[in-house]
Amino acid sequence: MKRRDFITAVAASAGSVYAATQALGLLEKPAAAQKPPFRLQPNGRRKRIIILGAGLAGMTSAYELGKVGYECTILEARPRAGGRCWTLRGGAKVPEIDGTTGTPISLQTVKFDQGLYFNPGPARIPYHHVTIDYCKELGVPIEIIANLSRQQYYYRENGGPLSGRKIHVREAETDMRGYIAELLAKAVNQDALNAELTAEDKERMIEFLRTYGGLDADLFYTGSSRRGYATPQGAADSPGEVADPYDLSALLQLGFAGDAVSEWGFDQQMTMFQPVGGMDQIAKALERQVGRLITYEAEVKQIRKTPEGVRILYTDKSGNRQQATGDYCICTIPLPVLKSIPSDFSPEMQQAIAGVAYAVTGKSGLQFNRRFWEEDENIFGGITQTDQEIDQIWYPSTGFLSSKGVLVGYYNFGDQAATFGNLLPAERVSLAVEQGSKIHSQYKNHFENGVSVFWPKIPYSLGGWATYTTQTRQQYYPRLNEPDGNIYLCGEHLSYLTGWMAGAFESARLVTTKIAALA
Ligand code: ALA
Repeated sequence: MKRRDFITAVAASAGSVYAATQALGLLEKPAAAQKPPFRLQPNGRRKRIIILGAGLAGMTSAYELGKVGYECTILEARPRAGGRCWTLRGGAKVPEIDGTTGTPISLQTVKFDQGLYFNPGPARIPYHHVTIDYCKELGVPIEIIANLSRQQYYYRENGGPLSGRKIHVREAETDMRGYIAELLAKAVNQDALNAELTAEDKERMIEFLRTYGGLDADLFYTGSSRRGYATPQGAADSPGEVADPYDLSALLQLGFAGDAVSEWGFDQQMTMFQPVGGMDQIAKALERQVGRLITYEAEVKQIRKTPEGVRILYTDKSGNRQQATGDYCICTIPLPVLKSIPSDFSPEMQQAIAGVAYAVTGKSGLQFNRRFWEEDENIFGGITQTDQEIDQIWYPSTGFLSSKGVLVGYYNFGDQAATFGNLLPAERVSLAVEQGSKIHSQYKNHFENGVSVFWPKIPYSLGGWATYTTQTRQQYYPRLNEPDGNIYLCGEHLSYLTGWMAGAFESARLVTTKIAALA
């Protein structure tokens, strides 16, 4: 019976057309099942709120509170909004300081050509993060960033027989999957698995593994066109010759598995998102909403509790001392900065603020006068992984086929990041070019200029993002999430989405909800 006949028949008998249509799943979900838009539910008493920091957490707090009539003031130490949500273009200045003494160390001026840019902070958005909702609400156009293209490389200096070779991710992954499928198929056939499989399921499993791994009729992995061709396919008499697989032992020694994170984690996907024109488009969109509330170059000097609420002492852009008073304070200052600001925080809060480590991480943007990765190597987006200190090279997902481009020359963490971070910016860029040129010899002839950012030395950030251990999550996180007097901490560090813009957005929603419920 056709579906329309079925619906008509049901309608003609006891049921309704609506019920029949619903039974067939033809109706849209009822509105109640859709996610309601976020909106604070205040009790009408509009208290005055001072927000410290015009990054995403601070601006989102002001934006959400402003929607329901609260009066907010934002104090921002930098001459710009956005915090770590930052895009570097030609002419931008990048100061770095000694993270302990605050002494200036270096000042870079970005030399990129017009239209080229680099995101030294957040650079990719997963599809399930609230960040996407804010892009929609704020009218920020987004585009795909290819986190994984499979044409990019694994390159090891110390990785067994394949060391010093550019191994396409597509080849390595196809071969590993083939070998795993072959081994498992043999185990199934020999009843060597502990898993109980019925005879039918064994057959189904073998059939699955044959397809999954690209195995031959005898269940051997002998290579597959999935990994690419030694001689390419073409017209007439060019069927293409499938390349031999790499040796299993060589692949194991290459040890790429630990690096194949660019789609394995829940937050890492093959295709992710980025705002068109740079990550700071999100910050700029928020700034359009709340910019009139921001005092720029206002450096917080003291955070005090008063019987009425809070008093913040700060210096203005001329260096004059100023103060702001309010009923509540939302403090988004990153913990490594906050720990040195004189305050009335309770001893437990002060200990918690000082007790959370931040990521040691850095990045560089390198401008080249030719997109050799596209022209010579057919790489369009994606990330090469290496065991050199640069750790990663990101290929741009914008400006395809244009003449120049900016690569992320390194993005590293921990000791590898410190190796770079301890150098002066010009030395970091030279080292990035030197290491990168082992993978792309074209670097040497086509490099034009570069910039580097080491987050532990960036004023008003002093670190990448909060990195909790199980112990610090248990010991300090609950305290940081409780207000101290009328002061509420807010930011990615007050979330389980540390190191993501979504952490800042979610924290802002939570803190403003708490305040709106009280004030
Ligand atoms: N969320 C950051 C990244 O994707 C840490 O690299």
